[in-house]
Amino acid sequence: MSNSSDPKALAAEAAAVIADLTGVAQHDIALTLGSGWGKAADVIGETVAVLEADRVPGFRASAVPGHSGTLRSIRLANGKHALVIGARTHFYEDHGVRSVVHGVRTAAATGAKIMVLTNGAGGVNPAYSPGQPVLISDHINLTAASPLEGATFVDLTDLYSKRLRDLAREVDSTLDDGVYVQFRGPHYETPAEVRYAGIIGGDIVGMSTALEAIAAREAGMEILGFSLITNLAAGIQETPLSHAEVITAGKEAEPRLAALLTEVVARF
Ligand code: 6GU
Repeated sequence: MSNSSDPKALAAEAAAVIADLTGVAQHDIALTLGSGWGKAADVIGETVAVLEADRVPGFRASAVPGHSGTLRSIRLANGKHALVIGARTHFYEDHGVRSVVHGVRTAAATGAKIMVLTNGAGGVNPAYSPGQPVLISDHINLTAASPLEGATFVDLTDLYSKRLRDLAREVDSTLDDGVYVQFRGPHYETPAEVRYAGIIGGDIVGMSTALEAIAAREAGMEILGFSLITNLAAGIQETPLSHAEVITAGKEAEPRLAALLTEVVARF
């Protein structure tokens, strides 16, 4: 039975279908893999099942090149079950904020206690270099949207778990961290907007993650966020930005990012 009027009921319905199709009653952790991070799905553990997004209530195949349209259940070496959400909906796709956070809500409904959110993003902080992964320490949400409905007042202190960031640094002590600024997109920012993002405390600019993190917090999950700096943002880098550049930088970084995530999730 489909329930499109209640997002949490739809997530519960999706979780029941995932349990049924994968044979995995409960997942322990979930990962959303953005540009550059997709290869992790092939190496973090043993794939139990791959589901096409359109078989699971509320999901749709991704319309964005470089994003997979599947959900994958993976058994990690430590016996934990991971759900990889390859079918991410971006706010700029105009399917509404409920669709944007449906993956996170579904992950929570499968039992996942940890949500790993990853993305490819632009560097505002001049200390960053393209190809570098950065731990997200906090965010600024410039979408003017919220995934929370009605008078749902949720605290966002320590949204990106200090405990999980410390754990990631046990794997790679050189990891930088930074504040992620979510813009709506799909256009990249102007140089003036990039300067603004820096002035208000941002280090990274992107088009995902913040809305998903808010929904994950509401669902009571612990959150780990990573950005791959695929390029420097407009005005920080001299050359014009392109989606092709983002994909290429992502491809180059993929093996390193997959190895990093494999070691991080092994410590959960
Ligand atoms: Cl420069 N901006 C945004 N919003 N998203 C990006 C990006 C820049 N580079 C990769 N993704």
